Amino acid sequence: MRRVALTEKELQSLPDNLALAVDGQTYPAKWNPEKPPRPFLPGDLLKPDGPWVSVRNRLRSDDLVVPIHSEATPGRSAFFLLLNLPGGRQATLAYLKKLESLPPNTEVPQIPDGTQVALLRRMLLIDETATLRLTPVTESLQIRSYREIREQDLSEFTLHRKEFLAGLAEGLELTAADESNRFDLGFLGFELHRKPDPFDRRFEARRSPVIMKTCIDCHAGPGIFGFQSMFAGHHDHPPLGEGSPEDQVTSTIERARETYTWGLLQGLWESQP
Ligand code: HEC
Repeated sequence: MRRVALTEKELQSLPDNLALAVDGQTYPAKWNPEKPPRPFLPGDLLKPDGPWVSVRNRLRSDDLVVPIHSEATPGRSAFFLLLNLPGGRQATLAYLKKLESLPPNTEVPQIPDGTQVALLRRMLLIDETATLRLTPVTESLQIRSYREIREQDLSEFTLHRKEFLAGLAEGLELTAADESNRFDLGFLGFELHRKPDPFDRRFEARRSPVIMKTCIDCHAGPGIFGFQSMFAGHHDHPPLGEGSPEDQVTSTIERARETYTWGLLQGLWESQP
């Protein structure tokens, strides 16, 4: 581990594959709500004053906004949930404020048509001092764009390691409409993700679901009611509020440091000169 660990500076200078992909201009930078749906790749997801607002779970002491994803990848990745209402950053901030000030048991205000939500996953690595750090490497980007409350455009880009390591472009690829059989996050604990039963006649379908068709299994609810981060354990209070990418990184690293596997890793690290 010590032999291959990079310095903090080296980690920070790993390629920002998302920025490279955006610069490559293979895809437009903005969503076009006209049909048919076309993939796009935004370059301003983490821009501090840009249209995408970073969201946190304000009812959790650690702020983690997608805890199921975080649990599934402890210390390996940081996740950022970015919300973008039509009307720009101010409109998104105003909507989050409205959620925060909602009295208990009142109806949750719906997001307007044209709202977009993104889930960005970035790689964490340990540096030469055995400290976990955020790297510029994007592992995946999933976006749901609501043409209407009941009609979403879905897209996903993922890191293809072989291409990335070979130095070929950015290694970030669009998941094709018919692509199947990729279980990198396991099943996130959902029924759909349970180990397939070979005697089940749906075995084949379960073993290799078409990725872009599974999104709707977990995000079918209309508009805000299809947000998984919204209702996990908080049915009375919408937990979402304005956050920052830094909060998510700090909490992810703190939580990882409390895990058994991190303890094991420390032990190994210290026992090797
Ligand atoms: C097995 C269920 C499952 C599938 C399939 C799934 N997701 Fe999710 N998704 C989740 C969960 C659970 C969360 C957030 C809660 C957490 O991680 O704690 C989430 C969060 C998100 C978010 C952040 C907004 C939100 O809903 O909270 C986006 C964007 C997203 N997913 C897009 C997608 C896309 C695009 C696909 C298909 C390529 C997809 N998801 C497939 C379960 C799923």
